[in-house]
Amino acid sequence: MSLHLEARVSDPTAGGLENLLSEDRRFPPSAEFAAQANASADLYSWANADRPAFWGEQARELLTWSTPFEQTLDWSDAPVARWFADGRLNAAYNAVDRHVEAGRGDKVALHFEGEGGDTRTLTYADLQREVSRAANALTSLGVTTGDRVAVYLPMIPEAVVTMLACARIGAPHSVVFGGFSAEALHSRILDAEAKLVVTADGGFRRGAASALKPAVDEALAKGAPSVEHVLVVKRTGQPVEWTEGRDVWWSDVVDTASDEHTPVDVEAEHPLFILYTSGTTGKPKGIFHTTGGYLAQAAYTHLNVFDLKAETDVYWCTADVGWITGHTYVVYGPLVNGATQVIYEGTPDTPHRGRWWEIVQKYGVTILYTAPTAIRTCMKWGEEIPAQFDLSSLRVLGSVGEPINPEAWMWYRRVVGGDRAPIVDTWWQTETGAIMISPLPGVTETKPGSAQVPLPGIAADVVDDEAHSVPDGSGGYLVLTEPWPAMLRGIWGDRQRYVDTYWSRFRGLYFAGDGAKKDEDGDIWLLGRVDDVMNVSGHRLSTTEIESALVSHPWVAEAAVVGAADETTGQAVVAFVILRGDSEAGDLPAQDVQTTLRNHVAKEIGPIAKPRQVLVVAELPKTRSGKIMRRLLRDVAENRQVGDATTLADSSVMDLIAQGLSTPA
Ligand code: PRX
Repeated sequence: MSLHLEARVSDPTAGGLENLLSEDRRFPPSAEFAAQANASADLYSWANADRPAFWGEQARELLTWSTPFEQTLDWSDAPVARWFADGRLNAAYNAVDRHVEAGRGDKVALHFEGEGGDTRTLTYADLQREVSRAANALTSLGVTTGDRVAVYLPMIPEAVVTMLACARIGAPHSVVFGGFSAEALHSRILDAEAKLVVTADGGFRRGAASALKPAVDEALAKGAPSVEHVLVVKRTGQPVEWTEGRDVWWSDVVDTASDEHTPVDVEAEHPLFILYTSGTTGKPKGIFHTTGGYLAQAAYTHLNVFDLKAETDVYWCTADVGWITGHTYVVYGPLVNGATQVIYEGTPDTPHRGRWWEIVQKYGVTILYTAPTAIRTCMKWGEEIPAQFDLSSLRVLGSVGEPINPEAWMWYRRVVGGDRAPIVDTWWQTETGAIMISPLPGVTETKPGSAQVPLPGIAADVVDDEAHSVPDGSGGYLVLTEPWPAMLRGIWGDRQRYVDTYWSRFRGLYFAGDGAKKDEDGDIWLLGRVDDVMNVSGHRLSTTEIESALVSHPWVAEAAVVGAADETTGQAVVAFVILRGDSEAGDLPAQDVQTTLRNHVAKEIGPIAKPRQVLVVAELPKTRSGKIMRRLLRDVAENRQVGDATTLADSSVMDLIAQGLSTPA
């Protein structure tokens, strides 16, 4: 473990955390911002006095309960928490109907911007009608409370509508990112035993129609006995294959359904959704979240971390709904808080590199939440691009998904935030459900590159190998020491894996899988993953999953994958493969082998998992017990002097690899 930690500490360094240890720039909140901020320093002492009671207050204040709860936290079945368990509510009612009932039906909920420039505006009243129609349609397709629905859609309003329609009838949704392959979709449909798949003909990406329905057809052709119907949104108009009796058009069943629907009340602990994420083994984990606690923390964090003023702010989170950020900070947090938000279908450089800034200017976006990889990409494109647009409406900037290096943080602050808008670097995970560690705007003096402090109500620490809290100025492993409302309730169908993955490394502590350091003030700096999980453009990928994809190719005998530091994407996938002696690949140019194997991974998992490089080697470095020493491979992938190789079974292997790589194929 400690070896890993050391390796990772140098990992993010090459990704830009080089100044981390000497970073001493400080940005205190302005008096004007502090004066109007939602959060105040009192929140910390209030929460510390009685954590469960504090969360109870938030849950009562921010949500509408059909049956109020008496209990706050029940930890008797640890590590599975129950929060507000005797209360009942409906997530879609909280996100939509109650705003309409309160006379805010005409307020814009979603400003949708299609990649090609088409737009749609949905008020809360529109959303209520759409979600009700979709809920009725789902019911007519046989979906009832407790059934799972797989969602494989582009970033279009129907994605939000579908998720809320599921929530409305108490059917947990399992959103699968549209960039995942048919294979990945298939395994997720099977694991959740989804009854319905909601998809589209395609979506627009990089100026072209990109098909989605064929991946659903391919996934279902592999066998998925639980699936009864496929509900298809027409987005691009491209031709689709059709399975009569199974496939139905959205326009036929949703648009024609009644726009009145009574939300189904569920218990606070009723599952709201499953979201698959990469773990350290090949099989993705179905992280599941329940209703009451998740919504309470989603709303509380969205309100305080982004200082949301629901009446006046225009909020934009650039995440896709296929990721947890899209769940909590596109769908549930903002809508429960009655915010007006922007959603955008496409990429930041279509049709030009100023597209995001054009959108900020067009809608007067006041709060922007995005990922460091996007910021670094914009830095690369040059600050003259954002300079062409009026960004003066921006007043809070958020970052999420990976450590943000101080220089990207400074650029974000200066170029995007006009040296005025506070930045909140928010640390959290699919598992935590909502933000856990972050500055509070108007309260915290910020430090470039640090997520700094656990939010009021959250307890985190950095510990050493023996689970002892490390002193200020030292590094170790990030752990969460108290249960929190939005915590995962488990891995779908596999309680033991939940216990083993998160609760067995340090007794009684939730181990997040991240390395971290406490600075002299006790503030937390995230250092990246310490396990075999990579973080590419803020997306989690498992080394093992990519290795399995590679060895599923007939040419490959063995594969080892590492995350190598990358200037733009944080980490990039670098694969080392040993080819089978009898394969035809030996006769092909190295370039062709590399291309074929990269495409194979993209097909098996999705384009996001495509290795940046595939290096053909004769041997892999292994310990005597047969474990691959990825640390050494990472040194090679990052063009560093190879570290201590004394524990290798055969110490000449690294020379062989180095020689092989320097010999042109
Ligand atoms: O390594 C941490 C990194 O992203 C991981 C969680 O990934 P995922 O579940 O996909 O959720 C991403 C969006 C919440 C974490 O274990 N991570 C996330 N946010 C930060 C971060 N690392 C450093 N700083 C952050 N702000």
